[in-house]
Amino acid sequence: MDNTESNSADRSNLSTNGGTETNNESSRFLAVTKSKAFQNILEIAGRVARFDSSVLITGETGVGKEVIARFIHASSPRSKGPLLSINCGALPETLLESELFGHKAGSFTGAVRDRVGLFEQAARGTILLDEIGDISLATQIKLLRVLQEREILRIGESIPRKVDTRIIAATNRDLDLAVSDGRFREDLLYRLRVIEIEVPPLRERHEDIVSHVEYCVKKLSKRLNLPSLHLDPACLDYFRTYPWPGNVRELQNAIERAAVLSLDGRIKPEHLPPQILNPDFSTKQFSLSAVKTLKEVELDYIMIVLRSTGGNKAKAAKILGIGQATLWRKLKTVPM
Ligand SMILES: Nc1ncnc2c1ncn2[C@@H]1O[C@H](COP(=O)(O)OP(=O)(O)OP(=O)(O)O)[C@@H](O)[C@H]1O
Ligand SMILES: [Mg+2]
Repeated sequence: MDNTESNSADRSNLSTNGGTETNNESSRFLAVTKSKAFQNILEIAGRVARFDSSVLITGETGVGKEVIARFIHASSPRSKGPLLSINCGALPETLLESELFGHKAGSFTGAVRDRVGLFEQAARGTILLDEIGDISLATQIKLLRVLQEREILRIGESIPRKVDTRIIAATNRDLDLAVSDGRFREDLLYRLRVIEIEVPPLRERHEDIVSHVEYCVKKLSKRLNLPSLHLDPACLDYFRTYPWPGNVRELQNAIERAAVLSLDGRIKPEHLPPQILNPDFSTKQFSLSAVKTLKEVELDYIMIVLRSTGGNKAKAAKILGIGQATLWRKLKTVPM
């Protein structure tokens, strides 16, 4: 099955070269990091691992949400059970529901034989619902039932079955915004977000850029059979200023590309992708005459969020990640 994976030994044995070992000695699952921010996250993940509470992991694409989910599973009493992960955004509604809950033969066209869904397959283990922000409202209701009752109904059956699975959800979307737009159920969000772990983007964790570079170079040197693979320190200056919209995944790809292009195994800036060498490339789309001050941009954005919450300042403050008093203060500066 393409979109599910079980916990495989090689993925759960990440090296710590260039990074710090995680606090959890018993865990085989180690993440590369030197930053305080990511280490704090691992510390929280280690603490929540002991319990079955649902966890919502948020953050931009490629920041390591799945890495955290695997860490939680590997550090939990369920570590001997499976970790099954599904990309909820990749499947149409009926197929997704059949994957998650299973079905009875003949319950819909194509359902040739009975199917055991992932919630049942992940018994005594963990299920990772990736891209949770993409599921339809109809599937959200069914998921809510699983979280509330701890039981599922296979499609075409009427007798519920108990499930014993820990649920971790991940998304790179703003689910509070999705709730205020009516695209995501608030009650489901509350159930999923018993614990929320927000993974900061790579550009806010500069120490981790170096950790990942070292780790990547070492791994690639083995995989590409380039024993003297080396990265010119001049590349690091580009890495520190580039905003890394694709985060760790983009960094890994950039280094692999450069390693392949550098014929002698010495990675120099000229081997880096053009967008990294020209970080203001993407800003060229803005016309200089339309440039605004940071304060103006901030106010524009506040007004957009306020409109999306129907003027609800408490909700807007939450989405913006600031206190209500701060929001009031900022709004006072809006010219009448
Ligand atoms: N701390 C880390 N240590 C080692 N590898 C990492 C770390 N963080 C991210 N990676 C690597 O970066 C890549 C992206 O990580 P991951 O798949 O966890 O990101 P994600 O946040 O789930 O992304 P997406 O939103 O696109 O699903 C993977 O190859 C992963 O192994
Ligand atoms: Mg992911």
